[in-house]
Amino acid sequence: MHAKASVMIDDKAIEKVKSEKRFYKRTGVVFNDVPSAEFNKRFYIESYGCAMNFSDSEIVASILSKEGYGPTKNMLDADLILVNTCSIREKAEANIRQRLKIFNQVKAEKPDTMVGVLGCMAERLKAKLLDEEKLVDIVVGPDAYRDLPNLINNAELGEKGVNVFLSREETYADISPLRLGQNGVSAFISIMRGCDNMCSFCVVPYTRGRERSRNAFTVIAEAQDLFDKGYREVTLLGQNVDSYKWENPETKDVVSFAQLLEMVAHVNPLLRVRFSTSHPKDITDEVLHTIAKYNNICNYIHLPVQSGNSRVLELMNRTYDREWYKERVDSIYRIIPDCAISSDMITGFCTETEEEHKDTISMMHYAKYTMSYMFYYSERPGTLAAKKYEDDIPIEVKKRRLAEIVELQMNMSHESNKKDIGKTFEVLIEGDSKKSDQQFKGRNSQNKMLIFNKIENLGPGDYVNVKVDSVNKATLFGTIV
Ligand code: SAH
Ligand code: SF4
Ligand code: F3S
Repeated sequence: MHAKASVMIDDKAIEKVKSEKRFYKRTGVVFNDVPSAEFNKRFYIESYGCAMNFSDSEIVASILSKEGYGPTKNMLDADLILVNTCSIREKAEANIRQRLKIFNQVKAEKPDTMVGVLGCMAERLKAKLLDEEKLVDIVVGPDAYRDLPNLINNAELGEKGVNVFLSREETYADISPLRLGQNGVSAFISIMRGCDNMCSFCVVPYTRGRERSRNAFTVIAEAQDLFDKGYREVTLLGQNVDSYKWENPETKDVVSFAQLLEMVAHVNPLLRVRFSTSHPKDITDEVLHTIAKYNNICNYIHLPVQSGNSRVLELMNRTYDREWYKERVDSIYRIIPDCAISSDMITGFCTETEEEHKDTISMMHYAKYTMSYMFYYSERPGTLAAKKYEDDIPIEVKKRRLAEIVELQMNMSHESNKKDIGKTFEVLIEGDSKKSDQQFKGRNSQNKMLIFNKIENLGPGDYVNVKVDSVNKATLFGTIV
């Protein structure tokens, strides 16, 4: 039985979510390079989680566009509603369950609308999702997007479908992503998939499968194509980019991450190159020297420490210790003196003591992070930590430790920004600032956001030199010089 047609869509709820800034950030909604007339059906997609998921949504969009599905910003216009999900923390999944409730209301109003769950939560929960969330028609894991047209066809005939097959080869290397994004200046390029590390807290190896690297030539071709279309910044994506390794099947030559970085830097000196995420155990001096050598490879490294304490790092199975991490930080500042480093940290991991938490604090001072993503530990079913250790730190303690590092990071970011007053940076213009169409926003090489007044004949994709006049915790304000 379909839900009763008398159930009204909760407009207020939809409006509330739409009005959240984060909502627009999370859903890539400007589809500027898509001619709309070619499509006879519409899909609506929301993406959650890491950049990899956003990048995957663009692959999904590309696959769907070949089936006559065009993107829409309005879920009420959609024949197909998709949500690309994240399982990294319990809260991420809870958030998505809330979104499914809203889609349910759409479906109550328009029973023909299909709803699909993609990504990590689809992979983790598999067919169980169909039992738990009755409105869901299809469940598709990260390596099965080529099967979407088939699953959609079956769903149209009333047959719900699941494909969560994890592949050892799939990299979608031949699929040109349909850019759902935002500014026409910066884009993601996925260079690898999966993860072979077994950090004990982490669900990613289970939701994304084994690590595999994408054909280097297709990466270069994608970067060149983006440059030709006017893009000026690419971010190379992988869970552990430093272990990128691709063997040319013809020559048997092996391309390392440092070499790939260099190849992308050669596409054009005006194309900025960024990458994420680096793993402290794998980042090599060769990579650091490559960054130092090319002006267009940004001086910014996201190097998640997770904890500053060696015993906790061992329990986390990060395979490095405090001393190793400090040495990597030293090498970064030695080889690339004006490099910015950012981090991810988890508070309240199993058995973490107050002293051990203080080691994370002292590591933050040591590494001088300009920015960090910080979380309290959330046990994930099936992970090594869930099997081996008790989640024994009380939630109030986890949250208090988190609040401490969040406050410290805010102060450190502010201090770091203050040091930039008076300096001039090369900035890539991304577009209008959020607050004023008289001002541009753009980032410097260190990934800091700058806001400055517009001048004539300049626009998104142009480089300008901006002198910093004032700062706050998150932003630098300056003048074009
Ligand atoms: N591949 C990246 C991280 C991917 S997940 C790396 O190795 O650094 C992004 C971040 O989420 C992680 O760095 C970690 O800080 C956080 N995270 C992962 N699992 C978590 C969990 N169970 N609880 C809390 N935070 C977690
Ligand atoms: Fe998760 Fe560790 Fe892999 Fe990062 S490196 S995705 S934290 S298992
Ligand atoms: Fe989340 Fe999956 Fe990324 S669990 S963080 S979307 S790899």
